[in-house]
Amino acid sequence: MKTILVIGGTGAQGIPVVKALSSDSQYAIRVLTRDPTSPESTQLSALPNVTLIQGNTYSEPTLRHALRDGAIDTIFANTNGFAIGEKAEIYWGIRLYELAREYRVRHFIYAGLEYASKLGGFDPKYRCGHLDAKGKVVEFLSAQPTTPMTWSVLTSCMYVEALTEFLRPVPDPKDPGLLVFAVPLGQGKCPLIYLEDYGRYVRWMVDHPGDSSGLVLHVATEDIGWGELVETFRELTGKRAVYRDVSLEEYFSSGIFRIPEAKVGRAMDSGDDTLVTYRENFSGFWNTWKDDLTKRDYALLDRILPTRVKSIREWMELVGYTGKHAPVLKDYQGKAKEVVEQRVVV
Ligand SMILES: NC(=O)c1ccc[n+]([C@@H]2O[C@H](COP(=O)([O-])OP(=O)(O)OC[C@H]3O[C@@H](n4cnc5c(N)ncnc54)[C@H](OP(=O)(O)O)[C@@H]3O)[C@@H](O)[C@H]2O)c1
Repeated sequence: MKTILVIGGTGAQGIPVVKALSSDSQYAIRVLTRDPTSPESTQLSALPNVTLIQGNTYSEPTLRHALRDGAIDTIFANTNGFAIGEKAEIYWGIRLYELAREYRVRHFIYAGLEYASKLGGFDPKYRCGHLDAKGKVVEFLSAQPTTPMTWSVLTSCMYVEALTEFLRPVPDPKDPGLLVFAVPLGQGKCPLIYLEDYGRYVRWMVDHPGDSSGLVLHVATEDIGWGELVETFRELTGKRAVYRDVSLEEYFSSGIFRIPEAKVGRAMDSGDDTLVTYRENFSGFWNTWKDDLTKRDYALLDRILPTRVKSIREWMELVGYTGKHAPVLKDYQGKAKEVVEQRVVV
């Protein structure tokens, strides 16, 4: 039985990965977490062949402890850039790779994101710390050989589940029966990924190390414009709803972030000048989607995962989406609450 070490396994992204890996008892899964008693940890430890390892991912002794017996065949790593910031995320992505080589891991799977700055020709309007950090680690990985340890990257995008949290509609204060989806996206299209499918892509990579060797796979359910998204929502729910294409200024003054000037990477030194603010970070983020800088190969995704959810409409039908609030990110329930407000006042 192959053993897989999962970094970030207790998060919104990691839970479906662990579930997909443990679904048929083919793999032994070890999940690193700071808190083995959290609800997420408890849920995971009840799954077959899942063991929790207590420790802080961003600490070399912890990582050496997790790798010490030489039993790990595969690592899936989703580092948390929101918690640690751009600089530390670049460091730990590369360091994890190096440690994996040192401990003779066979397959290193990295949870990547788009290198927004590079896609935008390094125009500062696209600079986004949490995208760029992972994008830079992907550049590093892409320069590495695929033997003796192979590597694969799953470049994702916003979770479609964010439509119940970060992206959810709020009632118009002047017309409470009207739901407003307010984002600074213009007529751009934004890729969204259904997390259960995300877990199944990781499972495919683990099952097929040969096919996924050296592959940077950009996954999403669909690239969708908000006009179409809201129209689909209206059609399926019968609710009154509008897409409000807000400016970045309006977006940040709406209360989406309690403290837009707070630094992304609060788990590290908040006085670190290299950390960007939420305002800077999410300006680059939305500009990237607004200007359609990214592209997915949906024909390839269909071949890899023929049963994938293929549209946001299909997802809305599958989960019975109503626009109602439901928590998604683990961090949003914890420390990030200090800076992240989820209530948008339009
Ligand atoms: N939100 C999105 O739509 C989206 C989309 C694609 C990629 N991402 C990326 O995914 C990463 C976040 O993962 P997630 O979405 O699964 O978030 P999440 O639900 O908030 O989970 C956070 C994860 O990070 C772990 N972690 C380790 N050290 C931490 C620390 N010091 N502070 C906070 N958490 C810590 C947590 O583990 P324990 O608490 O158990 O230790 C948990 O597994 C970010 O890098 C983000 O850029 C997010």
